[in-house]
Order: sequence, then C-alpha cells, then structure tokens
Amino acid sequence: MPSAKKRHVTVPDFLAAVETNHRISMVTAYDFLWAGIMDEAGVDSILVGDTLGMVIQGHSTTLPVTLDEMIYHGKIVCRAVRRALVIIDMPFMSYQESALQAVRNAGRIIKETGAGAVKLEGGHIQRSTIEAICRAEIPVMAHVGMRPQAVRRLGAMGRIQRDEQALLDDARAAEDAGAFGLVLELVPGDIARKITDALSIPTIGIGAGPGCSGQVLVGPDMLGLTPDFNPRFLKKFAELRDVAVDGVRDYIKEVELGTFPGAEHTHS
Ligand code: KIV
Repeated sequence: MPSAKKRHVTVPDFLAAVETNHRISMVTAYDFLWAGIMDEAGVDSILVGDTLGMVIQGHSTTLPVTLDEMIYHGKIVCRAVRRALVIIDMPFMSYQESALQAVRNAGRIIKETGAGAVKLEGGHIQRSTIEAICRAEIPVMAHVGMRPQAVRRLGAMGRIQRDEQALLDDARAAEDAGAFGLVLELVPGDIARKITDALSIPTIGIGAGPGCSGQVLVGPDMLGLTPDFNPRFLKKFAELRDVAVDGVRDYIKEVELGTFPGAEHTHS
C-alpha cells in the first residue's frame, strides 16, 4: 500500500497486498465528516455501504436504499478522502434485473462520485453481472456469505451460509468473473481461511475471523455509536456515544445555569 498521504490506494494495490501479506483495513463511512476522520487515521479503504439504510436512515434492513442515495453519500465521502480506496455498494435492485442495468448503474456510481470501485452481493448467481461490469473497466468487489439484500427470500438467519462447497464455489465464481476482492460476511473462520488460501484476490472479512486478507467493520459500530448492536464479531475501539451524550448534557447544564456563554465566547 502507498504510504500515508502519498497517493490514493488503488485496485492494483489491493491485489498486491496479497503478495506482500499486507493486511487490508476497511471501514464504512457515509459522509464528509467521518470519511475525513477515517482517511486521516490511515485506513486502506472506505466502503460506502448500503448499511447506511440502517445506521444513517434508521430502516430495519438495507432494502429501501436507492441508487441516488448511494450516489449522494458516495460523492460527499469522496470529497473528504485523500488516500483510501473508496468502494460504493450497489443497492438492492440496482443490478439484479440484468447485466445491462448493472453496467449502467455501476457507471453512474463511478462517473458521478469519483469512487474507485463498486461492490455487489453474490458470487455464483452474479457471475455474468460481475463479468459485464468488469468489461466496462469498472472494478467490482463481490460479497458472499451472509447477504443482507437476500433477507426477504432467506430470512434473517437463513442468510448465513455454512456450506463449505457452496461458499468456495461462490468465491471462485466471483474471482473467475473478474472481481478484485471479496467480502466474506459471517463465514465460519475455518472456511474463510480456506477460501482466502484458494484465491489470488484479497478476502475482506466481517465476522469471518483472522484468516482473511483484511477486515471491514461498520464505522459507527466500531466507534461505539450504536449501543444496541452488540454481535460477537464486533469490537468497539471507542465509546463515542457516551462521550457525545456527556458533552451535550454538559452544554445543556451550562446553558441552564447561565455559565455558557462566558465573556470569552461573546462577540464584542
Ligand atoms: O453495507 C455494508 O456496510 C457492508 C459491510 C457490512 C461489509 O456491506
């Protein structure tokens, strides 16, 4: 990976990371403020995930998120980022209809946001779609294992895949179709390691253990901003919600007591 602040991380850097055993760090961000913080910290990649439907918009699934909303969030993230590779999720029903629809919408994402790549859910079943997007010279990351966009057909737990052969087939199909990387969501750790060893593209795990080439977490979850979400795979690297609530409470108290603003905060 290029050293901090030198230049943008690219898709070839992702592929080279497998050779050099560099473990890729990825987090989600959805706006200028948080993308700037993540980039300043030196993360390799920022994913504008369709989890924004839940984390930012308050929906119970990712399904309602629209392409225009992804493009809006993608644009404001890209405006903040100096180094990380920005990858943008293709939302539900923006690529499932046909390869032509997928190419058009992936093209809109890249042209209108300035992001480096798109991500979509599926391996084997999206093979021809991944091929078509790659033929348009747009880098695609695939996402297998638990696929949140399949919630209506498979149910919440049914989306978790444990079948080793099916997972390996999905992973190989994505690589053969031209994907430059693969998210493994809630894949058992031993299978995730086998998939990682079998592929020449990097795997990015979430709840898939240390055997992946890199890791991704949802930014607000890892910073302790979503207190009701506590799955086993999540490590909270800060408790920012508590800090923020305490800060706002102190402000309210000082306004009520009349100790803020003081003379030093007053325009003269
Ligand atoms: O949408 C998202 O944030 C994701 C990550 C959980 C990998 O797909």
